[in-house]
Amino acid sequence: MSATPDYSVLDGKRLLLIISGGIAAYKCLELIRRLRERGVRVRAVLTQAAQQFVTPLSVAALSEEKVYTDLFSLTDESEMGHIRLSREADLVVVAPASADILARMAAGMANDLATTALLATDKPVLVVPAMNVMMWTNPATQANVRILEQRGIRRLGPAAGDMACGEVGSGRMVEPMEIVAAIAAFFAGQSASKPLAGRRAVVTSGPTHEPIDPVRYIANRSSGKQGHAVAAALAALGADVTLVSGPVTLADPMGVRVVRVETAAEMLAASQGALPADIAVCAAAVADWRVAAAAGDKVKKGPDGPPTLTLAENPDILATLAQAGPARPRLVVGFAAETRDVLAYAAAKLAKKGCDWIVANDVATGTGTFGGDDNQVHLLRRGAAPEAPLIETWPRLSKTEVAARLAQAIADTLSPPIALSTSNNNPEPV
Ligand code: C5P
Repeated sequence: MSATPDYSVLDGKRLLLIISGGIAAYKCLELIRRLRERGVRVRAVLTQAAQQFVTPLSVAALSEEKVYTDLFSLTDESEMGHIRLSREADLVVVAPASADILARMAAGMANDLATTALLATDKPVLVVPAMNVMMWTNPATQANVRILEQRGIRRLGPAAGDMACGEVGSGRMVEPMEIVAAIAAFFAGQSASKPLAGRRAVVTSGPTHEPIDPVRYIANRSSGKQGHAVAAALAALGADVTLVSGPVTLADPMGVRVVRVETAAEMLAASQGALPADIAVCAAAVADWRVAAAAGDKVKKGPDGPPTLTLAENPDILATLAQAGPARPRLVVGFAAETRDVLAYAAAKLAKKGCDWIVANDVATGTGTFGGDDNQVHLLRRGAAPEAPLIETWPRLSKTEVAARLAQAIADTLSPPIALSTSNNNPEPV
């Protein structure tokens, strides 16, 4: 994400950085520098394994603080007991968080300084996992992560991509500046009032993959950046967010429940499963059509020439949520990606789908919107007549900023907060 958050919130904050063992530990040196530049006081704890990858000396030099490594150091204990170490911080960050430390955290172990501090802390904890893809996808690690999340521990990543071990997949530690941005967002969220606290939101994001046969599928160029940024922005304002994501390579946004799906049908089921909600934002680029009867086996080349694909129309998730009767979220927002006549098509979509707002953007070749970091949008709100929406044109902004503005507009519209009810018999247009 191209985050341009307000880094000033970081000034004077105290961070306990727990570095566990993994090749990504070297990135912590960069992380510490970037945090120090922004006024963060960083105290670091290195596990024994971490010291195989970075030295306490380099961490001490960059953090300009004593580095802690030993649970049974008399000097350390007399200077700074492990309880104090874990409490004299505004946030505890475990980066990289190895499979091992996640397992020890989940089990409540306290067999070294890092896990003892984590068990003793009364402060929020953010873990930034980094490990081999097989280790990350192993059910044991996934179960540990679920346990930690249920206990309120925040998680950032991992991201997908090439890994130091030569394999490709999910397991990379997110980049240092993204960690800094997430930490800034955390503190910004803490200091601001949370206008969406108590609100539930469902956000769809990314493309869908519609199978042709077991190896081929129909897809599109959506990266999921805008939808993921919307989910993060709503969560930053206090909403309880379920992000229903098609296949993307992005890291899960912090503080958001993520349901991964492939097809439009799965996306619809997961979105409906996330109801009741106050807010629905459909940012996914859902395939309009699926192959009517996907082949059970791989389709082979043959003497009859190319196969004919018969397509069937996919369910429209936005329209379904907008017309969900009593279960309709109070505010339903769609996106309209168009290559020409953006406003006219978007206004028609607003009327046809029955949603309250449409965020319209131009995705013509050359705009760089698909997969890019910026977006230039118009916000159309349903007016007195469906064909006469109220239109606001926003400047070209990063997708993170578009998301933050949209989340704020949603908060402004829904406030003052009302208690979430499981039925809404009077879904007034907003
Ligand atoms: O009709 P079109 O695809 O242009 O509409 C775009 C909007 O509708 C987006 O908000 C998109 O997420 C949503 N949509 C949907 N389900 C579909 C098609 C589009 O939710 N099958």
